[in-house]
This record gives sequence, structure tokens and C-alpha cells, in this order.
Amino acid sequence: MEFNAYAKLNLTLDILRKREDGYHDLQMVMQSIDLCDRLTLSPARGEGEMRTNLAYLPADGRNLAQMAAEAFRRATGKGGAVDIAIEKNIPVCAGMGGGSSDAAAVLRAMNELTGAGLSLMELAGIGQNVGSDVPYCVLGGTALAEGRGEILTPLPALPRCHVVVCKPAFPISTPQLFARVNVRRITCRPDTPGLIAALEAGDLLGVARRMYNVFEDVLEPRRRSEIDAIKSVLIDSGALGASMSGSGPTVFGLFDREDTAREAFGRLSGLYKAVYLCQTV
Ligand code: C5P
Repeated sequence: MEFNAYAKLNLTLDILRKREDGYHDLQMVMQSIDLCDRLTLSPARGEGEMRTNLAYLPADGRNLAQMAAEAFRRATGKGGAVDIAIEKNIPVCAGMGGGSSDAAAVLRAMNELTGAGLSLMELAGIGQNVGSDVPYCVLGGTALAEGRGEILTPLPALPRCHVVVCKPAFPISTPQLFARVNVRRITCRPDTPGLIAALEAGDLLGVARRMYNVFEDVLEPRRRSEIDAIKSVLIDSGALGASMSGSGPTVFGLFDREDTAREAFGRLSGLYKAVYLCQTV
């Protein structure tokens, strides 16, 4: 069986508090886009193998997709060994939830293959120990994710629009970025209730204007400058709003017009290798 695993973007990312377990309570409005990995699952003859088209990715129990298959078997007692082949199209370590989305697709696939009949919310519950973004990725679409990422509220869909996504070449470590955050020092936060009200009103410009990610404030200055430069290209080309996704370094812009989105895509493609012209899902 073949499944799509869609990339996610953070329309907002706010950090509310540090928890005693070392994680942070977050408030994030998430959105799926049509940039996706392709997963093929088949019943295994042997112990179950994993393949990906990226040689440097672990293809064993450290891969979130394998962890998800194991978590599903433990939770339901169903499902034998499966072979999993992943065609990776979502950039890795980008803040777009690629690994989490693969894990979520495996949970949905195993639910179908075994006929277990779990609801999406039950599958999201199984996914929460695989990774903090896995529950949202099970649900997909437009949703509010709170707590560690496991408290989900579906939201009215973002009005269909064009999305230009650009991943600069430098890596960002998620745990290291969280370690740089001092929650009491966060001065600039996204207007999450205002953005949700704009979603309810179907107001794309109102959503785009309210997008913000508190991680942008704790980036090293030279990284921050590069993120800001990409945002400027997006806005200069006609984006209604632009923001960094997740713990970065991916930056994206929302466009109501295809011609302006294409212009931004063209300009950024001349500067960066990983640039995508997408639509919301
Ligand atoms: O759960 P996941 O493996 O995706 O999280 C990666 C790291 O990000 C965690 O080890 C933790 O340092 C940080 N994190 C956090 N609070 C969250 C989610 C992740 O501090 N809500």
C-alpha cells in the first residue's frame, strides 16, 4: 500500500512554559502542505526491512517510521513485520516534520492493513511517544497543537493559497534551540487567538499577518539575518506574510496569487538549492 506523508508548517509557534519533564508546553497552529514523502508498506517475509532513497538516514529502529510500526504493534497487539520503503522529498532536519510525518503515515497505514479500526485521535495518542509532532501529523490539515504537541484541536482550513518554502543550508538542533529559550524573556509572541479568529473568518491576509515563531528571536545573529533576508525576498515578491517553521531553518511565505508566488520561487531558487512551490492540503 502506498501513502503520502505531507510536510507541515507552523503558522505560529509559541512556547508557554518549561515543564518539569524537560519538555516545553507549546501552542502551535499547524498546516499541511502538498510537499510529501511517499511510503510503500508491504507485509514482510522476514523480520521487516526499511529502505530510503537517502543513504545517510538510519534505516533501522532509530528511524521514526520503524518506531511507529513498533509502537502500533505494542499498543494494539496487531500487525506482523512490515517492509517500509520511503521516498524522501521533504528536507530532513528542516522544521517541516518530515520524520514525524513518515511515522504518522506508518500508523495510518498499519491501522488500515490490520483492520484495527482506530480513530485518528487514538492513532495520534500512540504516536505521541514516537515524537512530539507525530500526533499532529496523524491528523493533518489545519490544527492547533498544545501541550508537548499531543493536545489537538482541528481548526477551519486555511483558505487555499500558494506557499513558497525555502530551506537554507545550515542545520539547527531542536534540543539546542529549546535550551536557548528563556521563557520569561520572550517579548514578542504570535497572536494565536487572532490568527484562529482569522481562520474562522476565512481571512487569508489576517492569518498571514499574524504568523510568528518565537524561535526566530533566539537564533544566533548571523542565522537570524539569513532568515530575515529570505523573509524579505518573500515579502518583496508579494507574500502576504512569512515566518520560520518549527525549529527551522525553513522559512515560508503565503501568497494569494500564483504569479507572485512564482516570482518569489524564481528569486529564491537562484540563491538556495531547497526551494519549493507548494499548495496547502
Ligand atoms: O519529541 P521530540 O523528539 O520531537 O523532541 C525533540 C526535542 O525537542 C526534545 O528532546 C526536547 O529537547 C525538545 N522539545 C521540547 N518541548 C516540546 C517538544 C520538543 O522541549 N514540546
